[in-house]
Amino acid sequence: MGNRTFAILKPDAIEKNIYGDIISRIQADGFKIIGMKMTKLNERTATGFYEVHKDKPFFPGLLEYMTSGACIPMVLVKENAVADFRKLIGSTDPIKADEGTIRKDFADDITHNIIHGSDSDENAEIEIAFFFNRAELIGNAGLNCC
Ligand code: RTP
Ligand code: MG
Repeated sequence: MGNRTFAILKPDAIEKNIYGDIISRIQADGFKIIGMKMTKLNERTATGFYEVHKDKPFFPGLLEYMTSGACIPMVLVKENAVADFRKLIGSTDPIKADEGTIRKDFADDITHNIIHGSDSDENAEIEIAFFFNRAELIGNAGLNCC
């Protein structure tokens, strides 16, 4: 069944109405979506999620961006999910991202970079628990997975 990673389609993906295209790319790369919702982060939830960055100079801009509109948190399953997903989305800065990556093709700049992906298995599980109950995930609630 593979392992899990966590993603967020950030507010510009929803604002520009391109999140369907990005979800198709994720599915085409072999990821199964076992949890997904549309929600809006407030200052408290965005700060909690990006707590690790709260002392960085870019944090105020990150907070403004992440609370600017709706976003779509997702739980994804694939073999080697964390590393494969980071490869699929590309570098934080779209200018540095490889050709064919989601950030290269869809992101505007290093802050407004369209998508989040967990950076370790441990953080993936922490981030999944931040947004989803077990019962909201296919396969954990007696539902058939994919
Ligand atoms: P993410 O956590 O969102 O998947 O992104 P990442 O690992 O590639 O990058 P990270 O260093 O964790 O930064 C988190 C998010 O903060 C914004 N950022 N802005 N202006 C800047 O220099 C800057 N650096 C980072 C981006 O939205 C980045 O994804
Ligand atoms: Mg990160």
